[in-house]
Amino acid sequence: MNDGILSVSRLSVGYTDRPAATDISFTLQKGEILCLVGESGCGKSTVLKALMAAPEIQLLGGSLSLGDTVLSELPLKERRRICCERMGIVFQSPEATFNPIRSYRRQFIETLKSHGRYDRASFENQVAEAFAKVELNDWKRVLNECPYALSGGMNQRVALALALLLNQEILLCDEPTSALDATIQLQVAQELKKLRDERGVTQIIVTHNLALARFLADRIGVMYAGRLVELGRAGDVLREPGHPYTESLIEAVPRLDGEMPFGLPGSPPMTGPSEIGCEFRERCPVATDGCAGRCCTLRDLGGEHFASCCGKEAAG
Ligand SMILES: Nc1ncnc2c1ncn2[C@@H]1O[C@H](COP(=O)(O)OP(=O)(O)O)[C@@H](O)[C@H]1O
Ligand SMILES: [Mg+2]
Repeated sequence: MNDGILSVSRLSVGYTDRPAATDISFTLQKGEILCLVGESGCGKSTVLKALMAAPEIQLLGGSLSLGDTVLSELPLKERRRICCERMGIVFQSPEATFNPIRSYRRQFIETLKSHGRYDRASFENQVAEAFAKVELNDWKRVLNECPYALSGGMNQRVALALALLLNQEILLCDEPTSALDATIQLQVAQELKKLRDERGVTQIIVTHNLALARFLADRIGVMYAGRLVELGRAGDVLREPGHPYTESLIEAVPRLDGEMPFGLPGSPPMTGPSEIGCEFRERCPVATDGCAGRCCTLRDLGGEHFASCCGKEAAG
């Protein structure tokens, strides 16, 4: 039993029988925004794809529920049907959402119809309104274009507009603003916030951008090498990070005073999560010999804040 709208418990998923993300647990309440952060290759997109029942993803363990429906017990086809009905996704690259050689008009109509939301009389007004929210002002021209004819940033805004139109109860966004320039990023971030404040839309937003996470997130989850290494309320995670990896991410954010931050040398292991030992130890400034042998599961730091660093605890 769980009381959240979306609940993931010890979920382990992969593209083969080797996990690309493992031991992922969180529960989201209605209207909550969780931002997943971490470097490339840490498993953020994999988690979103697993939630959407993407056919290339295998469930290797754990469970996944939408309200009272335990999705992980259902066959893929059924799982996918329920996920598509209740959750929207905006992919990192809009090519994954749209057919490049079919007009947006046709694709919008088809998608809205498949969700039972197409109304011929109000269609154009709704599109104009949704496009305006993501600064696509020439809506008539864009609607009649095919995706291949537009830039990546334009396509990304169209994908967001479609998500706004579908108005689903859960929205998953994979790097929704990475392809956009700064002013439009802000506009999009404000629209996402409004979706939560005005319509109670629950969201998981994958981002590299800690400033965006700070602006949007109720909670932040930090992923490293396929594991969730920290999870907590956004303010707590950013002010008092419980994992040295989170500290490194915060320190790596460029500041406006012109001082260049210390970057984090190296990169995450691409081999996925290991069975034992902290995957971050090679890059960690506070690692001890013991970090290779410990099992680094999340520990409760109090106040619904969890982190998997045991070295820090050992160091006091
Ligand atoms: N389609 C795929 N097939 C096989 N492995 C993949 C695929 N997509 C991602 N991976 C692997 O899964 C791991 C996590 O990747 P991903 O979830 O894309 O990370 P992130 O979104 O955090 O950058 C990486 O090691 C990556 O190489
Ligand atoms: Mg990704």
